Amino acid sequence: MKIVFATNNAHKLTEVQAILGPGFELVTPRSLGITEEIPEERPTIEGNASQKAHYLHDRTGLDCFADDTGLEVDALDGAPGVHSARYAGDGHDFEANNALLLRNLKGAGDRRARFRTVISLILDGEEHLFEGIIEGHIAQCPSGTEGFGYDPLFIPEGSAKTFAEMTPDEKNALSHRGRAVRKLADFLHNRSK
Ligand code: IMP
Repeated sequence: MKIVFATNNAHKLTEVQAILGPGFELVTPRSLGITEEIPEERPTIEGNASQKAHYLHDRTGLDCFADDTGLEVDALDGAPGVHSARYAGDGHDFEANNALLLRNLKGAGDRRARFRTVISLILDGEEHLFEGIIEGHIAQCPSGTEGFGYDPLFIPEGSAKTFAEMTPDEKNALSHRGRAVRKLADFLHNRSK
């Protein structure tokens, strides 16, 4: 089954394809000639996932899904949340985002945080939402070189390592996106039986 995934990020594409398995062929917006930035202007993670999926569905008429993720830090009232990509300003600069997060948490006793992913799937014109959450806390300083984004600062519950110190398989087994994509995969597999 062919399905459009609202990303041009090769890293994410590989991660999601590995979880969905060979029965699903992921198609990128770029391969369909959609080169403009897909809008994500909503104030919530689910709102953005839904907006991106609807946008692509309107443009292509094909089955499609989009994900949106945020890091929610309790001591910062859920920030950076929906603003995770641009926490330190425009430009998706992971290092600047991590530095700002550490600055804003300086002296904080409570460093609890979670990654939350929401996937919006539009299948046969109908929307379905899937959520994946991983609880954890923010380290005192960055460690590790794997992954991306806030991975060097995020220590999942029950682990002594940050996501950036894990192999991709170790991270996928625990991660927010892994959990949401496995729910999506179960749903799609059941539908195609
Ligand atoms: P997106 O919605 O997947 O583009 O994620 C928004 C932002 O959240 C990214 O730019 C990253 O800063 C952060 N993020 C998303 N997923 C992860 C992850 O697995 N590890 C670390 N940071 C992430």
